[in-house]
Formats: sequence, structure tokens, C-alpha cells
Amino acid sequence: MSTRILVVYYSATGNTAALASSLAKGAEEAGAEVRLRTVAETAPAEAIATNPRWQAWVDSGPHAELATLDDLDWADGLAVGSPTRFGGPASQLKSYLDTTGGLWAKGKLANKVATSFTTASTAHGGLESTLLAINNAFYHWGAIVVPLGYADAHLLESGNPYGGSFVSRKSAEPDETALRALQLQGNRLATITGYVADGLRGAEK
Ligand SMILES: Cc1cc2nc3c(=O)[nH]c(=O)nc-3n(C[C@H](O)[C@H](O)[C@H](O)COP(=O)(O)O)c2cc1C
Repeated sequence: MSTRILVVYYSATGNTAALASSLAKGAEEAGAEVRLRTVAETAPAEAIATNPRWQAWVDSGPHAELATLDDLDWADGLAVGSPTRFGGPASQLKSYLDTTGGLWAKGKLANKVATSFTTASTAHGGLESTLLAINNAFYHWGAIVVPLGYADAHLLESGNPYGGSFVSRKSAEPDETALRALQLQGNRLATITGYVADGLRGAEK
């Protein structure tokens, strides 16, 4: 049975979506079956209209299917991504996480393997605090949190051991350095999830 990976993200202007695609590619290259999903846009139309890039992203969607609770239940491992919003994850992403109480109560989220990724417009604008805030949900679930670390030489260049990230200063789009780090994160997530899932299936026999 192949390893099942869910990649779920929120993106307002496309940067987190690009990171998510690269992570999904890395997981697929490691042999995983991958579901790439986004979450519902909940911001009012007048807020979206204040930012032409946000409006253009919404108008050019949908960019992926919406994540369901079944996707989460299905997954052996998952990657969760959000742009930084005032130092934390976007409410749209948090809204999805906040629907997972039923699965959590049944113990269905324990032992999932989980990792997080983000983008912010400035290097000190909250990349790490966003990743750590996403990870808080994983700790409560009893998930096994996989940081990026410096597990590959490339990561010394891209440089965020907490998780894949990109600084989108002056509206820059994710560059090759960031996308490569996300690809490695997907590979690492799928590989480690495979070890854990195989072990859990073996223990159930
Ligand atoms: C309401 C709002 C809050 C933001 N807060 C931060 C922040 O705290 N730090 C930062 O560096 N960038 C912040 N940003 C910038 C975004 O995180 C950044 O542009 C990101 O690359 C957008 O990703 P996306 O294209 O996936 O939406 C904020 C943007 C918005 C619209």
C-alpha cells in the first residue's frame, strides 16, 4: 500500500500555493499518493477587492479541491501551509483545523506524521511563529512533527529548519531555492511517513 500524503494550504495571492505544489511534487517523487487541497476563502468580498493580487487569485480559481475531513482521515501524513498573517497562520486555514475536533476525539489524528510551511513578506515578519502555531495543532492531535532541519545540504542555503518558507518581499514569487526546499520537505515527509505507516500497519496485524 502506498503512503498517503495530504497537502493542505491557504493562499491569497498564490505564493503558498506554489510552495504546496512543490512539496506535493517531492512527496510524489518519493512514491507517495498525494492529495493537494486548499481551504475555503472566508474573507468578505470587499476585503478581497482592496488587494488587486488577491482579487486576481480568487478570480482565477478554484486552484484545488477543498480539503475535507475525509482527506485528513485518509492521510498517513500531512503538510499544512499558510501565508503569515500578523505573525500567525491565516484564519481561513485555522478554520479548517478547527473542524478536526471530531476526528481528534476518536483518536484518528494520533500518529499522523505532520509538517508545516509558510511565506511572509519579510524575513523577520513571523515565518517561525507561523510554523510553530500550525504545529501546535499537531501536538494536540498527537501527531509526529517532522521539521525540515538541515537534513540536506540545500537546506543550509534555503535556511529554515522549522519548515519550508519563502520571503516574498516586494511581491516576489517563490524562487528556485525556496521551491527546492519545499520539494525536499515533501520527500522527507513522505519517506518518514512511510516508515511510520508501515510500522503501524505491522503492529495492527
Ligand atoms: C492581512 C495580512 C497580514 C500579513 N502579515 C504579515 C506579517 O505579519 N509578516 C510578514 O512578513 N508578512 C505579512 N503579510 C504578507 C504575506 O504573508 C505575504 O505576502 C505572503 O507571501 C502571501 O502569501 P500568499 O500569496 O500565499 O497569500 C501579510 C499580508 C496580509 C494581507
